Amino acid sequence: MRLDKFLSESTSLSRKEIKGLIKIGAVSVNGTTAKKSDIKVCEEDEISLNGESVQYRKYVYLVLNKPAGFISASEDRKYRCVTELVPDEYIHYNVFPVGRLDVDTEGLLILTNDGKFAHDVASPKKNVYKRYFARLSAPAEDHDRDAFKAGIEFKEFKAKPARLEICEDPCEVYVEIAEGKYHQVKRMFERVGKTVIYLKRVAVGGLGLPENSRPGDIFEVDKLWLDEKINGYGEK
Ligand code: URA
Repeated sequence: MRLDKFLSESTSLSRKEIKGLIKIGAVSVNGTTAKKSDIKVCEEDEISLNGESVQYRKYVYLVLNKPAGFISASEDRKYRCVTELVPDEYIHYNVFPVGRLDVDTEGLLILTNDGKFAHDVASPKKNVYKRYFARLSAPAEDHDRDAFKAGIEFKEFKAKPARLEICEDPCEVYVEIAEGKYHQVKRMFERVGKTVIYLKRVAVGGLGLPENSRPGDIFEVDKLWLDEKINGYGEK
């Protein structure tokens, strides 16, 4: 790829700024000062900017502990968007949320600019289970567990088997679902006569919310590490 493309994808600098930096001799390729923006480089080349090595990065993966009150979108007229919580250094990557959490739902939300990864994690076909903690208006009952396991039927779809764990306080539960249909957890509980009064996603596949993280905290994670945590974790 062109040197200016390499640098614009890997830094927050614009192509114009990069051109200017190349002009003043601030960029080197394998130890030699670069003279032009359009020379061809590859990921293996050692590119430096003002003497600092620049690693090629096309995609980024962020894990957000989503606070309530933010919508899982990049643009909205009514609510603040989760993308407003992305630190400045990642803005140029144009990340978007992987799947959706309701505005009042808290917890684990991945943001990335890698469309294939986002599709794979959200797709019901990939069987990546999402785990939620919920507080209910009324105690969960054993037969709710059976109903969830059998797959709750809605007008437009039948939910895949879901796992329900009832806590010591039966108004508190953990539920795991492999899809992410609109208001799915809330609608599943509605069908068994309970209202979800608090909902938090605590895991996606084997990826849990970072320990001691607080709503609004956001972390960059490595793709290989993320793949290991998520892929192949769900029940086939
Ligand atoms: N199910 C819901 O009802 N809401 C969410 O935010 C996520 C899953």
